[in-house]
Amino acid sequence: MAETLIVSQTADRSAVYREIAPQIAAIIDGERDITANLANIAAAIKQAFGFFWVGFYVEKEGELVVGPFQGPIACSRIAFGKGVCGTAFSTREVQIVPDVDKFPRHIACASESRSEIVVPIFSPSGDVWGVLDVDSDKLNDLNDEDAAGLQAIVRIFEKKLSEELF
Ligand code: SME
Repeated sequence: MAETLIVSQTADRSAVYREIAPQIAAIIDGERDITANLANIAAAIKQAFGFFWVGFYVEKEGELVVGPFQGPIACSRIAFGKGVCGTAFSTREVQIVPDVDKFPRHIACASESRSEIVVPIFSPSGDVWGVLDVDSDKLNDLNDEDAAGLQAIVRIFEKKLSEELF
């Protein structure tokens, strides 16, 4: 496995998502450990874009528990329906929050977080398995372009879920 991520210096985020997706696929292709794969996916997204916080919350015993992430320490557990993450989990839909202060249920794990996107991850049975959460310290920093790019990365991970081990 190549341990180097190639990222072009461009403001074209879609181009960077297109560039890193196959590299992420290659990184996780030969690895069956779920924690290893989630950790490298979070690191690749953080390295490519420099977002404030990138990571995963995974459904466990009726709530969301933080998984591998890059960034400052975060809330360990989030109830379904609470926060942006819990809302993405309960609605099964991508949540884009341009201004977290205007999202009534937002959970402020870090005051620097200003905008946020959360993408649900589906298990092979069709249940929501967890979420990918990306936080920015800039207002209105995450949009449909990020939704498409992050969903493409999540789809790569979902394909592997049935064969992975914790
Ligand atoms: N802000 C999130 C909580 C998780 S973190 O910010 C890392 C939310 O409202 O779901």
